[in-house]
Amino acid sequence: MIAVRTLEGVTSSELYEVYKEAFCDYPVDLGFDERKLMLILHKLGGRPEHSFAAFEGDKPVGFASCGIRTFKGRLTGYVALTGVSIHHRRKGAGRAMMEAAKDHFRALGINHFLLEVISTNAPAYGLYRSVGLETSRVFGSYALEAKGDMPLSDIDIRIMTPNEAPWDVLSSFWDFPPCWQNSIESIGTIPDIELVAAAYEGGEAVGYAACSCRSCAIDHLAVRKDRRNRGIGSALMAFIAEHTPSQGMSIANIEEGCRSLEDFVKHRGFRHTLSLHELEMEL
Ligand SMILES: CC(C)(COP(=O)(O)OP(=O)(O)OC[C@H]1O[C@@H](n2cnc3c(N)ncnc32)[C@H](O)[C@@H]1OP(=O)(O)O)[C@@H](O)C(=O)NCCC(=O)NCCS
Repeated sequence: MIAVRTLEGVTSSELYEVYKEAFCDYPVDLGFDERKLMLILHKLGGRPEHSFAAFEGDKPVGFASCGIRTFKGRLTGYVALTGVSIHHRRKGAGRAMMEAAKDHFRALGINHFLLEVISTNAPAYGLYRSVGLETSRVFGSYALEAKGDMPLSDIDIRIMTPNEAPWDVLSSFWDFPPCWQNSIESIGTIPDIELVAAAYEGGEAVGYAACSCRSCAIDHLAVRKDRRNRGIGSALMAFIAEHTPSQGMSIANIEEGCRSLEDFVKHRGFRHTLSLHELEMEL
């Protein structure tokens, strides 16, 4: 018999045990240890008081880490990560936690519910569709196995933390608002991992890239619309490639149909690695 309660009182090591049993057959190897799992949930805004666990007796067998932020201009309830132990699937635990989260957000006056799922994850997609969520946007991720030598330029590029970045200016360069995982708030939560490289001309920011330095994973790349096709995007990419130890390079979550970025990365030999669906519903 499955019972659903909030995640408060579940320790991080108990949560990690459920996570390991739930994600052992996940389509992508996330490779999280306990510390990284907690860091990622924090980055995505997951908070125990807004999150749920499914219990069999006293033992947690599933979890849905959830949080609240303003997203797309609306107060939004979000599910950062859901998992049910491989030994306890198809007993309704996943659906019961989703319904508990929806009820919780509704009771707080929040009527926008949103999450993201990898397109090849049929069980999760089935669960989310079964509780009323529908795809609103699709994002593609790309990777370059060997970044090789990228020609450096003399463009003035300055490094800053996400908290120092002038987001009101930088966000005006976007062709699409980032998904939740790549939102300014998500990036800003882990400033020691994420950095912003901004290109300047005549004292004005004209382009930037936000990336996780160690893994050379780019989360944002955008050039001011009137300064495109002048080598600024390439200069930012070369700058990041030069300053990170990793062999390869990746760029995450480009909105499908954003030709400026899709063509830019394909032209540089990046290959498509996965698609992420943003699902949402009114509560
Ligand atoms: C996705 C997951 C959480 C579902 O948990 P669950 O407790 O087994 O789901 P439920 O029993 O509540 O299923 C509810 C509905 O979801 C859908 N669903 C669940 N598993 C499914 C599967 N393998 N294939 C297709 N649809 C599925 C069905 O519509 C199901 O209703 P039904 O059983 O009446 O047909 C679980 O498979 C899991 O932990 N997977 C690994 C981790 C993961 O991928 N998390 C999501 C990351 S975004």
